[in-house]
Amino acid sequence: MTVHFIGAGPGAPDLLTLRGRDLIAACPVCLYAGSLVPEGVLAHCPPGARIVNTAPLSLDEIIAEIAAAHAEGKDVARLHSGDVSVWSAMGEQLRRLRALDIRFTVTPGVPSFSAAAAALEAELTLPGLAQTVVLTRTPGRASAMPEGEKLAAFAATGAVLAIHLSIHLLDKVVAELTPHYGADCPVAIVWRASWPDQRIVRATLGTLDAAVGSEMERTALILVGKSLDATDFDESRLYAADYDRRYRPVGAEPRFPEAS
Ligand SMILES: C[S@@+](CC[C@H](N)C(=O)[O-])C[C@H]1O[C@@H](n2cnc3c(N)ncnc32)[C@H](O)[C@@H]1O
Repeated sequence: MTVHFIGAGPGAPDLLTLRGRDLIAACPVCLYAGSLVPEGVLAHCPPGARIVNTAPLSLDEIIAEIAAAHAEGKDVARLHSGDVSVWSAMGEQLRRLRALDIRFTVTPGVPSFSAAAAALEAELTLPGLAQTVVLTRTPGRASAMPEGEKLAAFAATGAVLAIHLSIHLLDKVVAELTPHYGADCPVAIVWRASWPDQRIVRATLGTLDAAVGSEMERTALILVGKSLDATDFDESRLYAADYDRRYRPVGAEPRFPEAS
């Protein structure tokens, strides 16, 4: 018996890996994390599968569900939204499963920041403007931030920030970031990226408040950084006609002659 942790993607049911889909279809038990996992993904469960929404359950109750499936020799598909490597609470489940000697696998998913960037049709790492994306959040009731992981500390680097779980603190986020990025720095908020009711607001740190209005939906990402609306940026050297590289040797004395 194996528990398969699977990233269920950001919302659109077809933003699921083929491996994830096949594992879901092969498991007689499916535990999924609340409203962010779309019905369309659950549709891959086999007929008669036991499908449990774990949103109202405690960690002990979730592990009890897994232990019951283990006792019956039934594989479990454990679905979390987006990718399982960030804000999935997978870590604590894996620790319990290791202690119980229950086997597991981990299958990645499309993270919400990727879906949001796709919705914005944006490359976040543009040459000369930004080469780092920070996936972060503000402190929440259930999760304090470790000392040193302050928004202002990341902002001081000028990196692109993808701020999760923080739309309800938008005013605070804008106030903390403006001294570092300037009021004219582009911002985008993507609500429910890849869902049918996806919504996007583009603004600057200075105009965001007026642009957002009274939007209350909490599943949103705040993206901040110069690359979000840039048109004046360098082209990548990798594809420059005169750039000598292994797969496209250039000049009389190429660096990798054996490839030519
Ligand atoms: C508990 S975290 C889960 C993150 C997820 N594991 C991932 O890979 O993106 C939930 C937060 O992720 C962001 N999020 C998840 N799905 C989203 C979506 N479709 N559109 C925008 N933001 C999303 C929001 O900031 C939300 O508050």
